[in-house]
Amino acid sequence: MEAGRLPLRVAIAEAERVLGEAGVASPRVDAELIAAHVLGVERGRLVLVPLVDRQVVDAIGRLVTRRAQRVPLQHLTGGAPFGPITVEVGPGVFVPRPETELLVEWGLAALRGVVAPLVVDLCTGSGALALALASARPDATVHAVELDASALAWARRNADRRAAAGDTPIVLHAGDVADPNLLAELEGRVDLLVCNPPYVPAGTVVPPEVAKHDPARAVFGGPDGLEVIRQVVGCAARLLRPGGALAVEHDDTQGESVPALLSARRVLTEVTDHPDLAGRPRFATARRG
Ligand SMILES: C[S@@+](CC[C@H](N)C(=O)[O-])C[C@H]1O[C@@H](n2cnc3c(N)ncnc32)[C@H](O)[C@@H]1O
Repeated sequence: MEAGRLPLRVAIAEAERVLGEAGVASPRVDAELIAAHVLGVERGRLVLVPLVDRQVVDAIGRLVTRRAQRVPLQHLTGGAPFGPITVEVGPGVFVPRPETELLVEWGLAALRGVVAPLVVDLCTGSGALALALASARPDATVHAVELDASALAWARRNADRRAAAGDTPIVLHAGDVADPNLLAELEGRVDLLVCNPPYVPAGTVVPPEVAKHDPARAVFGGPDGLEVIRQVVGCAARLLRPGGALAVEHDDTQGESVPALLSARRVLTEVTDHPDLAGRPRFATARRG
């Protein structure tokens, strides 16, 4: 061993142990992602780094301590990978989840064959869905709506970064999905509307990362979790063009209630619910008839 250098695998094993004892759900993955972040390499390339300096081990240890306090990994690394892009996140904005990428995939499939589509992302948070769709479909015009000022500031920052990287700029709106005049200029014209709203029923016990670091307004959707989704369904009925598509994420307890809300709108057809990769009910889709 080179003098003063330490085996990375020992540092990672120690990090995994600390994170596991702290109740972190995936301690090995998080330990490796923290090491990769400190070293500035992809996780898959850690095997190519057998020995590291003491300063690297200390830097890993500092981040592991904060992760063990259940600060979200993405707040520590500053970024959340989301489909084809990475969005910056931190205090004041919801961390995009991998399962929400399913809405992007479904939405892109729904847009196949539509030239220069008009797309709306309601409850955009960091802008993840809107920006991923804009990145994948440079010919699209993508509007994104967010109520919360600090979330909107993160969305603006991400939108500016993506535009600087060459993606088609998105159009950000400060707005409330409960506003009956929201995006009135787009009524009856939208090809795709996506939304990952707050949908957790109030009072549900959530992990510390969520309880302490995701804004409550981003997580909880009233007593039955459906308060914001009800408004989103109204927006979709008003904004979609005939044949336009809707995808809305929901809680795994809402695999019947959300499709029922969609079906209750006469103008919405082809109502279907979809599971996530773990097989749990995760998002509902429909088309405007
Ligand atoms: C679950 S987060 C989703 C953020 C982003 N779409 C994502 O998937 O990462 C829900 C977002 O909806 C916003 N929100 C809550 N109520 C809203 C409303 N009435 N109108 C617009 N946005 C709202 C919250 O501030 C939060 O940013």
